[in-house]
Amino acid sequence: MSSRPRTLLHLTDTHLASDPAWRHHGVRPQARLAQVLEQARRGPRPDLVLVTGDIGHDEGAAVYQRFRREIRALGAPVQVLPGNHDVPSAFAEAYPAADAAVGFAGERWVGPWRVLSLDSQVPGEVAGRLGADQLRWLAEALAAAPAAPTLVALHHAPVATGTPWLDDHRLADSAGLLACLEANPQVRGVLFGHVHQGVDTATEAGLRLLATPAVTVQFQPGSQRFTVAPDEPPALRWVELAPDGAVETALQRPAAGDEGAEAGPGG
Ligand SMILES: [Fe+2]
Repeated sequence: MSSRPRTLLHLTDTHLASDPAWRHHGVRPQARLAQVLEQARRGPRPDLVLVTGDIGHDEGAAVYQRFRREIRALGAPVQVLPGNHDVPSAFAEAYPAADAAVGFAGERWVGPWRVLSLDSQVPGEVAGRLGADQLRWLAEALAAAPAAPTLVALHHAPVATGTPWLDDHRLADSAGLLACLEANPQVRGVLFGHVHQGVDTATEAGLRLLATPAVTVQFQPGSQRFTVAPDEPPALRWVELAPDGAVETALQRPAAGDEGAEAGPGG
């Protein structure tokens, strides 16, 4: 049973609004989600769909129910965690955290692989923080299964990614997180969102750090101030998890649709 590779599909930062026709800096998030899901349906059925936050952009609770319905249609288990834009009460209504350890932190098993999701949301703030309780939970969880190849997921970037205005609100307690992860060699990578661009890098100790571009508008890599790249398409990330703990990953960008980069009056 554990001898076949498993497939994880990573989506992030959909930024959906109550009004499905709403435009976000010139793109329509709802149309982009449809594009991404259509692309996903053409691929292999994933063993897990991982969503790393910023599902919603406004206060509307209906957004989360709509998102939940649409993601469920992929017919795969779904693991979600909140981002800075998400409304905790509406998020929790769609995705009850009853079995979560701290906040919305939790775990999923995918064959022999384990995926630990963390909650870096600080309500009312753009920057993220895990906090001592969650870091303690993470250390204990990793110590309990040292032989299981593990991925860790969160919303905020745990390192600076070379875009100064975004680097200002990366994870505040990333030193504690990285120290914990680097002390556990079964951790094969970290998946995150928030930066609205693709990142594939590693710490000096060799811990792989992967961000997936947003479903909604991308941010311009390297920009000093908030700058969007509305012509950049959305993306999804496929991650193949080998039984021996190896990770293969690639981004896939749906062909440009007629909604994706179209400028609108609300942009
Ligand atoms: Fe975002």
